[in-house]
Amino acid sequence: MKISSADFVVSNTDVRQCPESKLPEYAFIGRSNVGKSSLINMLTNRKGLAMTSSKPGKTLLINHFIINAEWYLVDLPGYGFAQAGKANRERLRKMIESYILMRTQLTNLFLLIDSRHAPQKIDLEFIEWLGSNGIPFSLVFTKADKLSGSRLNENIQAYQATLREQWEKLPPVFVTSSSTAKGKDEILDYIESINLQPKD
Ligand code: GTP
Ligand code: MG
Repeated sequence: MKISSADFVVSNTDVRQCPESKLPEYAFIGRSNVGKSSLINMLTNRKGLAMTSSKPGKTLLINHFIINAEWYLVDLPGYGFAQAGKANRERLRKMIESYILMRTQLTNLFLLIDSRHAPQKIDLEFIEWLGSNGIPFSLVFTKADKLSGSRLNENIQAYQATLREQWEKLPPVFVTSSSTAKGKDEILDYIESINLQPKD
């Protein structure tokens, strides 16, 4: 799919104030600093569209971007940022959870995982929460440029093996780098294939 336009629309703290629209939307979630905002910039080929930072805790709102006037990308705050403090973490958790549970336009959630690390409890628990709430999601292994090809494959295989202990069927898996644009076509084609599905 070709992206001909990508524009920031609005930021919200409350899912009930998000754009009134029937367009499908695709949101990005995962630990703080995993690369959600960078991935949005890479997919849209717009460097400063979503704000990024080398420090965790940059995105603190629900941010809507309209793509090709047909669908939305949504940048969410990350979870698990220790320095945010308990009250802030709790506030962000509620913001994220209510967006995911209440936003009927949410068509697919991309859950980002740092490909360098072994499975982390916080991500596994989040995956379990998504499963128990019936949220359609895919996994995105980020920062692939930071590992050798063989190490990357090993880590992803090991991650999938951990998930198979709990799940019979695994969600779609993407491997990305926002530095090299690895995974860009795969994710955009996946979104396009969902957008083209007849609605029931
Ligand atoms: P929060 O908004 O704080 O939740 O973080 P985020 O998940 O949006 O992460 P962000 O996109 O701001 O990226 C965090 C840091 O990781 C930045 O320094 C990025 O440049 C870096 N980064 C993100 N993706 C990649 C990648 O694919 N490769 C490399 N090498 N660095 C990346
Ligand atoms: Mg961000």
